[in-house]
Amino acid sequence: MESQPAPGVVRLVRESAPEYPLLCCGIACTGIATLGELSLMGASSTVVDLLSSGTAPTEAEIDGTVGKLMLLFCIVAVFRHLGEYLLRVAGENVVACTQTALFKSLLQLDVAFFDAISAGSLTSVLANDVEAIRLAVAKYFPSLAHHVCACTCALIAMLRISVQLSLTGALVGPVIGILIAYFNSFVRHLTREQQAQLAAASALAAESFAFVRTIKAFGREGHFAAAFAAEAERSRALSLREMAWHKLWNGSNMVMGVAGTLLVIRSGARAVAAGELSAGDLAAFVVYGVMAGHAANDAVNAYAFVTASAGRASRALQMLDQARRAVATDEVDLDAISPSRPLGEAAMVCFSNVSFRYATRCDACVTRVTFKVEYGTTTALVGPSGCGKSSLLLLLLRFYKPEEGCVRVDGTDLAAIPERTLRQLVAVVFQDTPLFSGTIRQNILLGANGEDEARLDCRMVSASVAANAHDFIVASGGYDQQVGERGVTLSGGQRQRIAIARALLGQPRLLLLDEATSALDSKAEAAVQEGFCARDGADRSTVVVAHRLATIRDAFQILVLERGIIVERGTHGSLLAAGGMYARMAALQQVDGAHTARRQCCR
Ligand SMILES: Nc1ncnc2c1ncn2[C@@H]1O[C@H](COP(=O)(O)OP(=O)(O)OP(=O)(O)O)[C@@H](O)[C@H]1O
Ligand SMILES: [Mg+2]
Repeated sequence: MESQPAPGVVRLVRESAPEYPLLCCGIACTGIATLGELSLMGASSTVVDLLSSGTAPTEAEIDGTVGKLMLLFCIVAVFRHLGEYLLRVAGENVVACTQTALFKSLLQLDVAFFDAISAGSLTSVLANDVEAIRLAVAKYFPSLAHHVCACTCALIAMLRISVQLSLTGALVGPVIGILIAYFNSFVRHLTREQQAQLAAASALAAESFAFVRTIKAFGREGHFAAAFAAEAERSRALSLREMAWHKLWNGSNMVMGVAGTLLVIRSGARAVAAGELSAGDLAAFVVYGVMAGHAANDAVNAYAFVTASAGRASRALQMLDQARRAVATDEVDLDAISPSRPLGEAAMVCFSNVSFRYATRCDACVTRVTFKVEYGTTTALVGPSGCGKSSLLLLLLRFYKPEEGCVRVDGTDLAAIPERTLRQLVAVVFQDTPLFSGTIRQNILLGANGEDEARLDCRMVSASVAANAHDFIVASGGYDQQVGERGVTLSGGQRQRIAIARALLGQPRLLLLDEATSALDSKAEAAVQEGFCARDGADRSTVVVAHRLATIRDAFQILVLERGIIVERGTHGSLLAAGGMYARMAALQQVDGAHTARRQCCR
């Protein structure tokens, strides 16, 4: 992720802009409720003065006072709860919008972004960090506004009763100010650490559940449980530290508050004895003072929570900003290229001097690769594991950008082709074939290119027939059977055939197959290839990666890669005749005319 200053409270406030009207109404209601509470305090002074005046109050005076108190209570109750409701609604709205926008924007980011961050961390950002926004907007912001308002009103009321007593109470102010500064900076720092820790624990849990079969197969349950326990322990330690700081703050604040109140009572009692102040006013002053102290304390706590929540939400907001910027720069004119561009003289695919390295690695993955894929032909990429075959396909899908050189499709620089056009043009079957949880139908229809899915039934069946998948689908329960998470209820070969049907459904003009039939037996593989041929017209080009050379014997051209460089190219026959690396690979696999004895790896 790009390094930039963490968005703070101001950024959080900006993100809530659409909800300002609701927030303002909510805060106004809370303000009215607070004024009502203060008036209740004022009424207590009237009652004290009434009782200490020496003359018994009349029934009308008592009824008037009770009626006034009742009215105030009603106002406080109605506005307090209405305010809380409105603020909660605003908070939920902000969270829903942020979560949806973040998820959508993240999906539009480059694949390279996902190489550097785990799925578990992203899930944690979407769930936990965004929850921090809800707390800040719906709870802590309003609570801060409420307490600041209450504190201000109480201070004004205190000043109106006695300026001198107010100054006496304010003597503890500077000490509290210093405590606030220290407290806030520590809490902010700790909260960020806690968020990172939570994300690490989520990432570990998500990965463990995703690969539970491997963990069980190697009997490593204890190892992963211990790793998770260590993460949980780090989270616990951080939470305890945060709690300790809160307690220290609250304890110190309480001492300061009591000291201030005692100073006020001492001076106030002298003023009452000297006849400068009534007993009712002193009682009201003390009540207002306690209220101001509590409100100030709560306001500081609320502010600490606001800044802490802003810290917690900062990763989510940073990602949102980054994704929005990336999406904005990626927006291109969708009409720049027509998907039905007439076939011209240019090759379907043209790699010119392409070099590429992954951002997370320092060595080059592909070096000065140049080749063409002619219209309606099949190009095969072969070579040892890790030589860069899949990476070439990923470049062709524009998941990564070349460091040097250029990739053209239909004569147009890949970088200039609008996203939607590119996805209509190219379909892929990846080396590992994950399916989504849901039905077989839903998985195949993912390849529909935004067409009306209800009208695709016929095409879905013919794509499945071409992928040699129709028979097993019908025999095992039909297109509406559930496949489980990542297609776990199907065999590897069945998953591959569904993935092939998905790729064929969109009738792509360029088909990329990365070991797409590696899990199939020879008979099923031959049936799939037959299916491709039956549907193949001159308008489809194919780039196929294969380890089993028998599957690419008939390819129009075969490119042999070694450590990211094309070392040989030609047809099956010409490469065998050349006696180079391809011929040696063919000999090892006993493909056509290659008579070298099979290496005895296992005795
Ligand atoms: N996302 C990635 N980040 C960093 N390095 C990567 C990434 N994907 C692949 N690599 C590296 O790039 C090199 C080429 O990988 P690639 O997947 O293209 O090989 P391949 O020829 O398809 O191998 P195989 O036949 O085993 O599938 C390897 O050294 C690999 O470690
Ligand atoms: Mg590969």
